[in-house]
Amino acid sequence: MDRIRIVGGNKLNGSIQISGAKNAALPLMIAGLLTEETLILDNVPRLADVAQLQRILGNHGVDITSVGKRSGDREYQGQTLHISAANIIDTKAPYDLVSRMRASFWVIAPLVARMHEAQVSLPGGCAIGTRPVDLLIMALEKLGAELSIDGGYVIARAPGGLKGANIDFPKVTVSGTHVALMAATLAKGTTVITNAACEPEIVDVADCLNKMGARVSGAGTPRILVEGVSKLHGARHTVLPDRIETGTYAMAVAMTGGDVQLIGAQPQLLQSALDVLTEAGADITVNNEGIRVARNGAGIGPVKVSTAPFPGFPTDLQAQLMALMACAKGSSQITETIFENRFMHVQELARFGARISLDGETATIDGIAKLRGAPVMATDLRASVSLVIAGLAAEGETMVNRVYHLDRGFERLEEKLSACGASIQRISD
Ligand code: EPZ
Repeated sequence: MDRIRIVGGNKLNGSIQISGAKNAALPLMIAGLLTEETLILDNVPRLADVAQLQRILGNHGVDITSVGKRSGDREYQGQTLHISAANIIDTKAPYDLVSRMRASFWVIAPLVARMHEAQVSLPGGCAIGTRPVDLLIMALEKLGAELSIDGGYVIARAPGGLKGANIDFPKVTVSGTHVALMAATLAKGTTVITNAACEPEIVDVADCLNKMGARVSGAGTPRILVEGVSKLHGARHTVLPDRIETGTYAMAVAMTGGDVQLIGAQPQLLQSALDVLTEAGADITVNNEGIRVARNGAGIGPVKVSTAPFPGFPTDLQAQLMALMACAKGSSQITETIFENRFMHVQELARFGARISLDGETATIDGIAKLRGAPVMATDLRASVSLVIAGLAAEGETMVNRVYHLDRGFERLEEKLSACGASIQRISD
């Protein structure tokens, strides 16, 4: 299995192109199942999760072709996917495919909406908590689907098609909102989703659905209204920039010092994280190209942060912030409110010498002057990248094992960081 070797201590200077958002690209690809016409998606990141979803969609009979740079493109644009679900040959999503990536479970929504049936294995994904699907099932049942669980599969049937309904989520859920939204586009009548997730990726999917002929309003607010239509058609849509990748590189620069332009980054997608970085002592400027992050001279100040649904501080940046706070001048507190077990990075950060104690959902981090490189390993994507950030700032060599997780969510990570002066390389065994 590949490893990443980092020799820490170099400041980051230069520019990094921000890729398309993984967590928008995945549901957008799944939305391609809603129509027999072709959905073209631009700026799709080349990631292991995207490739895995291509295999899952292929299993349903979806044709996907991938195009690289388009003629006339001067800069890296991600890949363009042409997704054609003209003939869905199988409405079953099998265990060996779905168990590797949680978001693939969401295919249940377009399949039951368009084909009126689906059999989807219960999901797997990152080890960050129990992550049930009860609210996704609740949403589909409200829309009139009959659901049962048999042999590890959720079996959904809606013989006469789905019907519009009021779906009130008892807690904010991104997955539940995606599923309710996609399913409601082809339901008869009106659906009102309340306590909906407001994440930018939901808005991006809603925009794409509207280009496909859906009638969705209110995405980005807690109340989404969907007027069902009988058919959706093809469309072309560009995936929005990845706010978690943006925040990750911003934290890396805050940690190592230096000055980096994050090209294509959109500040409104991660204002809460930029505010925390400013409080910690980073210089953040917004310009025509995106966001510029610098830290020169000044040390890192401690912060007190709780993760929260958008527009709050994202759980997907919690591990990276913890790495940063490991070197703050003072004591920080980070509370994780979204997932009950998302602290797998704590024991690995301790290998660098970080002083972190856990009390329930709150971590207290007592900053130290310098981390020391170490061999480390992580079991989820964002935890893995927090170890990369720590390694970039640590004295000496860090070896990050099991980089499989990084490849799921960070496109050309080593390339982007080494172009800014980091000493980082992949070692293939
Ligand atoms: C999405 O996961 C993201 N994944 C996650 O990013 C992200 O951490 C999370 O949203 C929160 O922002 C994708 O978009 C592919 P939820 P999701 O449904 O949709 C509970 C990454 O690193 N819940 O908003 O699965 C759940 O257990 C990944 O890129 C239920 O109780 O998250 C959690 O506590 C990791 N029942 C909370 O809701 C349900 O049926 C929020 O989960 C569904 C969720």
